[in-house]
Amino acid sequence: MSDPPAVGELVPPDRTLMGPGPSDVHPRVLRAMATPLVGYLDDYYVEVMDDLQTLLRYAFQTENEHTFAVSGTGTAAMETALSNLVEPGETVLVPTNGYFGNRLGQVAERAGGEVVTVDAPWGEPLSPGAVERAVERHEPTVFAFVHGETSTGVRQPDVDTLADIAHDHDAYVVADTVASLGGNEFRTDDWGLDVVYTGSQKCLSAPPGVAPITFSDRAVEKIRNRDTQPRSWYLDLTGVWEYWGEERNYHHTGPISTNYALREALRLLAEEGIENVWDRHRHVAGAIKAGVEAMGAPLAVDDDYWLPSLNAVTVPDGVDDGRVIDRLMAEYGIEIVGGLGALDGDIFRVGCMGQSAKPAKALQFVTAFGEVLDDEGGDVDPDAGISAARDALSH
Ligand SMILES: Cc1ncc(COP(=O)(O)O)c(C=O)c1O
Repeated sequence: MSDPPAVGELVPPDRTLMGPGPSDVHPRVLRAMATPLVGYLDDYYVEVMDDLQTLLRYAFQTENEHTFAVSGTGTAAMETALSNLVEPGETVLVPTNGYFGNRLGQVAERAGGEVVTVDAPWGEPLSPGAVERAVERHEPTVFAFVHGETSTGVRQPDVDTLADIAHDHDAYVVADTVASLGGNEFRTDDWGLDVVYTGSQKCLSAPPGVAPITFSDRAVEKIRNRDTQPRSWYLDLTGVWEYWGEERNYHHTGPISTNYALREALRLLAEEGIENVWDRHRHVAGAIKAGVEAMGAPLAVDDDYWLPSLNAVTVPDGVDDGRVIDRLMAEYGIEIVGGLGALDGDIFRVGCMGQSAKPAKALQFVTAFGEVLDDEGGDVDPDAGISAARDALSH
């Protein structure tokens, strides 16, 4: 036998998480994770699951009975939505305006769907007119879109109008809110969505690993009446719902500590009040926006579809974005990231999510960002950035 490996104690560095997620986690959530395990069908854990469902209905602003947390990250919720709603050969309409819209298409295809697209350039939302034309042309069974596109910092407006258009053609509407739910106004029932899912690690500020999802009764009926079984056993909702529903049958081992954490994060959300939480994100992200604009590194998206939880900041001419990102991390412990795909090198992506959406963190970021950009040769005015951010926070 070889010697036992000598691995040091786990001491993660102190970071301010202002990238596209995970976001900073409240100490109450960390403490919840450190509480004792119980069994996955222990009466106590069943109560935790009940509480989670109640709290998630509030977060999603829905009365949907079928509201729970998938055991997996946001992509597992995306797969759950599409692999259960879509039967092989059905047409699925997805957007082309970002990385995660593209992922929706890939997942729909694996579910056996015939994927068609509604087009908009990266950096812009879908227009209701384009959705209407695409729905008339393709008559999709499912229309799936991204509410907060993390790759571009674009918030999809007019969600209720898009849902109405799809419903007029009997399509089911799926919304990806992984980067937006809990940080931006979102009303599942009022806006008429059939399936909505999110992640735990972004605006909800819990650790990654569980992904909330909700299904309208109409979506549940379609899923219960499928002709074929979904290809995934693990994500097949007939089994998953026996665990989360009245039966409380074993389906898989629930991620107990992660759900404890999500429950505590959702309790924090409920204590603050969801509308106050939406306002806080706009207010704090507004200070970041004002700060970067005043220093000379404006947002790359129009105000009408600005996504407060993910700010796409233009890389000033002559600046190497990778160096700025590395220096913010090395010198200030602040995490931000660069652009994805078509926007690589053009934007910084600055998250303002959950516990990271706090005034002190916005000021810390604007100050450090201005200094580093200036030092890296950007034509920026760091002091103007700091005063604009302070001013925005004082209103
Ligand atoms: C909009 C959007 N959808 C889906 C995902 C996938 O989530 P996860 O990385 O948690 O699997 C992400 C992650 O960044 C996202 O931002």
